Amino acid sequence: MGTGGTIAGTAASAADHTAYTAGQLGVQQLLDAVPGLGDALQGDQLVCEQVAQLDSKDMDHATWQVLAQRGVHWLAQADVGGIVITHGTDTLEETAWFLQMLLHTHKPVVLTCAMRPATALSPDGPQNVIDAIAVVRDPMARGVLAVCAGRIHSARDVQKVHPYRLDAFSSGEAGPRGWVEQGVVRWTDPGAWPVAHAHAQLALGQPAADWPWVEVVPSHAGADARQVDALVAAGVKGLVVAGTGNGTVHQALWVALARAQDQGVAVRVATRCAEGQIVGQPALQTAPRGLNAYKARVSLMLDLMGQV
Ligand code: SIN
Repeated sequence: MGTGGTIAGTAASAADHTAYTAGQLGVQQLLDAVPGLGDALQGDQLVCEQVAQLDSKDMDHATWQVLAQRGVHWLAQADVGGIVITHGTDTLEETAWFLQMLLHTHKPVVLTCAMRPATALSPDGPQNVIDAIAVVRDPMARGVLAVCAGRIHSARDVQKVHPYRLDAFSSGEAGPRGWVEQGVVRWTDPGAWPVAHAHAQLALGQPAADWPWVEVVPSHAGADARQVDALVAAGVKGLVVAGTGNGTVHQALWVALARAQDQGVAVRVATRCAEGQIVGQPALQTAPRGLNAYKARVSLMLDLMGQV
C-alpha cells in the first residue's frame, strides 16, 4: 500500500536530497523502478494499492482510518501473507503505532520509507523496499514493523532520530528487532509480539472527524499555562505532556494540567528523554510503558474512543 513520502518524492536535480516534493510517484511506478524485485518476491505475487499520496508531515486521522480499513481488508484474505506500506519518514512511527494498536493479526505489516527522493543519484528507497519484502516474507515476522537501512524496528520502539542520514531510525535502548542482510533476515529475538489495543477497532468505523481530540503539550523552560487553558477552552479531550526527565512538569503547566483534569480532560505524562522510560509514580498518570509523547497521544486517543 502506497501512502507517499520521500520514497515517492521527486526533485529537479539528481543531486538534490532536500529540495524535493514528497509523494509524487505512484506505488506501482516505485515498484517498477526497483531492480531485482522479482528475485526478492521468489514467486510470490505483489498486489499494489495507492491508499494516499502525501508528505507524511501532513498525515491525518482520515488517512489513518482508510489505511487501517484497507489493511483489515487485505489481511483477511487467506492468500495474503502480509503487507508492505511505503510511507514518509516524518510520522512513520506514529502510523506504525496506530496500526499496531488496531490490527488484530499475526501477519506482518511492514512500513518502509526513504530518506532520499526516487530521483536521487543513489536513492535508498529501492533497497528498503527489497528489505521490507524480505521481512514480510519471513515466517518469523509478526505485527507491525518498520524497515529502514537494513534494520528492523518494532512499532513500539521505532523513532526517527536523524533529519538527514539514511539510517534515520532507532529503537533506542530496546535495539532493533533484527537486520536484513543480503535478503536474509536475522532476528535479535522473535520474543513476544505486541497485541492490538482493545478499543482500536472503533477507529475503523467512527468518522475520523469525531475521534477524541488529544494534543501533545511540551514542558520546557519558560513553559506557559495558557497553552493548556486554551486547549481546554477549545474542547480538547486529552493531553499528553512531553515531560522533562522522569516525567516532571514545569510548575506553571502543572497548575493548568491539574485544572484540566478537574474539568474531565484525560492527562498523561511521557518523557522528552530519547531513551529509557519513566520510573516510579509521577503525580500524573504515565503514558503506557516507554511510549514517546506522540505514540502516547495515539494510545490515549484510542483509550478515549472506547469510553464514549
Ligand atoms: C515525509 O515524511 O513524507 C517526507 C520526509 C521523508 O519521507 O523522509
